[in-house]
Amino acid sequence: MARLTINGTVRDVDVHPDTPLLWAIREQLGLTGTKYGCGVAQCGACTVHIDGVATRSCALTVGAVSAEQKIVTIEGLSADNSHPVQKAWLALDVPQCGYCQSGMIMAAVALLQQNRDPSDTDIDSEITNICRCGTYNRVRAAIKQAAKSRDTRQG
Ligand code: FES
Ligand code: FES
Repeated sequence: MARLTINGTVRDVDVHPDTPLLWAIREQLGLTGTKYGCGVAQCGACTVHIDGVATRSCALTVGAVSAEQKIVTIEGLSADNSHPVQKAWLALDVPQCGYCQSGMIMAAVALLQQNRDPSDTDIDSEITNICRCGTYNRVRAAIKQAAKSRDTRQG
């Protein structure tokens, strides 16, 4: 049994400590917005925040996360897609197939918490998530639009 603090709630999960955090999030906790892509920390589809840091949850075991650490998944950003990054994503119609987009958004939110006015170079160096549909230009535009928001949830 492991104890996780996820989206503001303490949850117990009955898994081996070596289980990838991604499996616990999806299979035990039913939070399926976080996606499985490569499984080897390359694509970013499984990105969540741990204490505000964008983290690839396929490459971290449940046992490596303490109950005191705050995990946030895409479901924890807002109850109604009202987070400024989600609003920018919707306004600019960023997703194509959508599979990578939860991870993209989580990476973008983490970037904006560190850098309120990122350049293309900043975005390219910090957002290393892979999108097979090639939405990178719209991702950049949406991050810049969200950066203009005064919503304090950005950082
Ligand atoms: S599924 Fe975790 S980085 Fe690809
Ligand atoms: S929108 Fe299809 S993989 Fe990114």
